[in-house]
Amino acid sequence: MATLLLRRRLRLRRRRGCRRLILALAIVAAFTFFVPLDPSVKPAASLSASSFFRHSGRASLRPPPLSNSSLHSSSPLPNSSTSDVVVGSSDDKKVVVRPLTKKKKEERPYWLLPPDEALMYAKREIENAPLVIDDPDLYAPIYRNVSVFKRSYELMEKILKVYIYSDGKRPIFHTPELQGIYASEGWFMKLMEESKVFVAKDPRKAHLFYLPYSSRQLKEALYVPGSHNLRPLAIYLKDYVNNLASKYPFWNRTKGADHFLVACHDWGPYTTKFHDELCKNTIKALCNADTSEGIFVRGQDVSLPETTIKFPKKPLRYVGGKKHLSERIFLAFYAGNMHGRVRPILQKYWGDRDDDMKIYRRLPNRISRNMSYVEHMKSSKFCICPMGYEVNSPRIVEAIYAECVPVIIADNFVLPFDEVLNWSSFSVVVPEKDIPNLRDILLGISLRRYISLQTGVKQLQRHFLWHASPEKYDLFHMILHSIWFNRLKQIQDQP
Ligand SMILES: *[C@@H]1O[C@H](CO)[C@@H](O)[C@H](O)[C@H]1NC(C)=O
Ligand SMILES: *[C@@H]1O[C@H](CO)[C@@H](O)[C@H](O)[C@H]1NC(C)=O
Ligand SMILES: *[C@@H]1O[C@H](CO)[C@@H](O)[C@H](O)[C@H]1NC(C)=O
Ligand SMILES: *[C@@H]1O[C@H](CO)[C@@H](O)[C@H](O)[C@H]1NC(C)=O
Ligand SMILES: *[C@@H]1O[C@H](CO)[C@@H](O)[C@H](O)[C@H]1NC(C)=O
Ligand SMILES: *[C@@H]1O[C@H](CO)[C@@H](O)[C@H](O)[C@H]1NC(C)=O
Repeated sequence: MATLLLRRRLRLRRRRGCRRLILALAIVAAFTFFVPLDPSVKPAASLSASSFFRHSGRASLRPPPLSNSSLHSSSPLPNSSTSDVVVGSSDDKKVVVRPLTKKKKEERPYWLLPPDEALMYAKREIENAPLVIDDPDLYAPIYRNVSVFKRSYELMEKILKVYIYSDGKRPIFHTPELQGIYASEGWFMKLMEESKVFVAKDPRKAHLFYLPYSSRQLKEALYVPGSHNLRPLAIYLKDYVNNLASKYPFWNRTKGADHFLVACHDWGPYTTKFHDELCKNTIKALCNADTSEGIFVRGQDVSLPETTIKFPKKPLRYVGGKKHLSERIFLAFYAGNMHGRVRPILQKYWGDRDDDMKIYRRLPNRISRNMSYVEHMKSSKFCICPMGYEVNSPRIVEAIYAECVPVIIADNFVLPFDEVLNWSSFSVVVPEKDIPNLRDILLGISLRRYISLQTGVKQLQRHFLWHASPEKYDLFHMILHSIWFNRLKQIQDQP
């Protein structure tokens, strides 16, 4: 009943909007017929009705278009005093679009479209992505489909606007933590809130809505140590979302499907459990991307990489393999605690051996004095990344930084950015049941295949880097891209 009423209200609003549009169009039309403002403008009579509606109508009702995606809508436009608009076209050459001139369809200024239509436009463009062959900037083997990735990424840069709710008390909301093993939620939050490119100040122009909460801060604030009770956390988030849904019209429009959150703590998924729409519809970027728990859904949610940041001022401190292949003297390396279901089995079969399998509980001092943890990664062909209590492991990104091929052991784990990356081309996934054969599996990988995997890791590295101010194709952009990509996938089911 409530939704029926709401739909009717929305429809009414839309109709009212339409009436306003027609009135405005009439005024613009009258103006254009009788008061030619700019002599370069062709007579309105030569325009077809459709092109008139498409260009002058919308343009006159909306704020001036962006010159390109890196300029935020609030910044003044270059050339805004003239009637020409410079845009980045799909091939990034500058194209001059004259308003009030009949245009070919592909030059349609899609950034003027209402958010829903812009998403549909992007979706169709990606489905018909031009084939990318030998792009010097993109190493094709690491992607599922490099043409799709390239087109989707460039459209994201040009179109996507995110509205960030200002609601929510600190420190649970709006307080990015940039250090430690949950740093990726904090880094994303900080860079998103600072973004001049992607933030929409006006929610009506947004394609996505960000719930700026920190799963780690939620735990810090509300979890009673030893209680084993996550309910207060989930209730808190439920109340937050209900409050947004009653205060603003945006949540109810899609029942949360165009909203997203980014959470790296193991408990991230559970904190959404008490709000049905949040749990089922909202796009959740989660480190704990485990499909067996019924919360993370492959293709809808986003597997967020876990990145351990020791020095927030130097997030790239440990990046770089440098070593020649012959200096990778160990076959495989792991050092760490032995909790969770996988690591004790790893320890049982491969711990404390005197060969090329270097599997330690924690790196003993006598060994780390001579060769540090990071040096071990750089001196190994394969870095073992077994799940801990949950499927995710910060070792995957550590291995990528050290240019060591990750060996992932965590059944039901959806790998980071699985929607666009082809993990078989730069990693080895070993089913948990095959741990007893681990050494044979790794020895069975030919040198040629190994070099191809390691080349993939090096090419992949930039997608996992944090920069204090985001760079093209870096981790911030990859997270946002996967959220955008998955949202585009969903919209096909909607009218
Ligand atoms: C306006 O556009 C022209 C052509 O692209 C360019 O040469 C010129 O610098 C621009 N003017 C301003 C103020 O940006
Ligand atoms: C967009 O603007 C930025 C900086 O203003 C510039 O570096 C970039 O080349 C522009 N891109 C296009 C497609 O015009
Ligand atoms: C990649 O996607 C494009 C666009 O959908 C398609 O035409 C092409 O065949 C795909 N390439 C591969 C290798 O699947
Ligand atoms: C959204 O829906 C909820 C539950 O149906 C309702 O309580 C709330 O008032 C609605 N919000 C708006 C802005 O209409
Ligand atoms: C110390 O590490 C080097 C490699 O960096 C190795 O060759 C050497 O055998 C190690 N020494 C000891 C005592 O483990
Ligand atoms: C992914 O990579 C593997 C190994 O390089 C390759 O065999 C497979 O065809 C690739 N898959 C896609 C979808 O490109």
